Amino acid sequence: MPQINYTVKPSNELAGEFRVPGDKSISHRSIIFGSIADGTTHVSGFLQGEDSLNTLRAFRAMGVKIEGPNASGEVTIKGVGIDGLKKPAHPIDLGNSGTSIRLMSGLLSGQSFDVELCGDRSLSKRPMKRVTDPLALMGAEVNTVEGGYPPLKIKGGSSIKGIEYPMPMASAQVKSCILLAGIYAQGETCVIEPATTRDHTERMLNAFNYPVKTQNNKMCIEGGGRLTACDIDVPADISSAAFFLVGASIAKKADITLLHVGVNPTRTGVIDILKLMGANIELLNECLVGGEPVADIRVKSTQLKGIDVPENLVPLAIDEFPALFVAAACAEGKTTITGAEELRVKESDRIQVMADGLQAIGVDAIATDDGMIIRGGAITGGTVHSCDDHRIAMAFTMAALHAESDIIIEDCKNVSTSFPDFIGLANRAGINLAITE
Ligand code: S3P
Repeated sequence: MPQINYTVKPSNELAGEFRVPGDKSISHRSIIFGSIADGTTHVSGFLQGEDSLNTLRAFRAMGVKIEGPNASGEVTIKGVGIDGLKKPAHPIDLGNSGTSIRLMSGLLSGQSFDVELCGDRSLSKRPMKRVTDPLALMGAEVNTVEGGYPPLKIKGGSSIKGIEYPMPMASAQVKSCILLAGIYAQGETCVIEPATTRDHTERMLNAFNYPVKTQNNKMCIEGGGRLTACDIDVPADISSAAFFLVGASIAKKADITLLHVGVNPTRTGVIDILKLMGANIELLNECLVGGEPVADIRVKSTQLKGIDVPENLVPLAIDEFPALFVAAACAEGKTTITGAEELRVKESDRIQVMADGLQAIGVDAIATDDGMIIRGGAITGGTVHSCDDHRIAMAFTMAALHAESDIIIEDCKNVSTSFPDFIGLANRAGINLAITE
């Protein structure tokens, strides 16, 4: 594939009403649960990004009939039931998607067949011990390459038993992996999380009539049940909306409304952090859609101020830090982020890659082991590298709304993993973004 670079010219204004693409976490889960449910699941608003499409292709490869997505994001899944998946003909390639590989490792540990899961250059460097350790305690056999990296080789026919597992890190992917294996386990499986993480798995299993009991920070599931198909309306992804929340906050003149965005309280850390920085953000038309809170979000420009980001908000905004670092670069004063070491094991090392990029465009940013210290001020412009990371590319695109000269962002092809037509939407909103190959 040819390398795609972005050239973003400085601009001052953002305006309009937009719906960003569907939520990535909910889209993945709709395919996974729809596939193992009894009956037919209809999904609307499905994210047509490479990551969720890789999950969809994976279940097709295991014999599930899935129609769509059509142009408006409708998908129909003919569920095969809890024990109806078939051995795929080849290893399953999950591309860039950490959510696919970690959630599927739990589900596939409970099958009767062997399967191999692999991915791209970035996924092949991401830690898998965090799922293989608890899965081994449950009796599963999952092998990694030296150091605990993909490909994962999962042995079929293992007898899986329930465990109680205190997670060493706050991770919704690890929690979901264990709960998915728990469906196939004998007895009860409980996960205890050290801090609140996104709860889409628990909400969606309940919607599929498979009870998950949540008490404080402990989630429990009883093995041996079945899922009943249901309809799923995927809201717009707050993680994609986040770039425009930051863009509108830092632009000289902005007034935008983002429509039908998922505002599940386990995902809204970005709104809370921006509000602490003084952002002008309003939630309108709040309602509940299929068990998930949704709202329109109106944002107007403002002068942000630097803050110490409260650590309890970090897991609730974990994917939004590339954008939030840019917000901090445009704020008055110092912003300090701590307790965010998980950023080092995302699609790239988001602490190092963002600090390097911010420095390259004239920002005073210092990477620390678990976060960053940023002194806000001018952004001069310059060339940065996305390091194959979609969110790094989109965050630096927003920086052009505060820059004195062009920002060139190298290697942006992975934006398509989570935000198809980012370029079109950004330009319609007022950003001056062109691509070169
Ligand atoms: C996700 C959980 C988070 C997040 C990722 C999606 C999910 O990962 O960063 O983009 O859908 O469960 P961790 O569980 O590794 O924090």
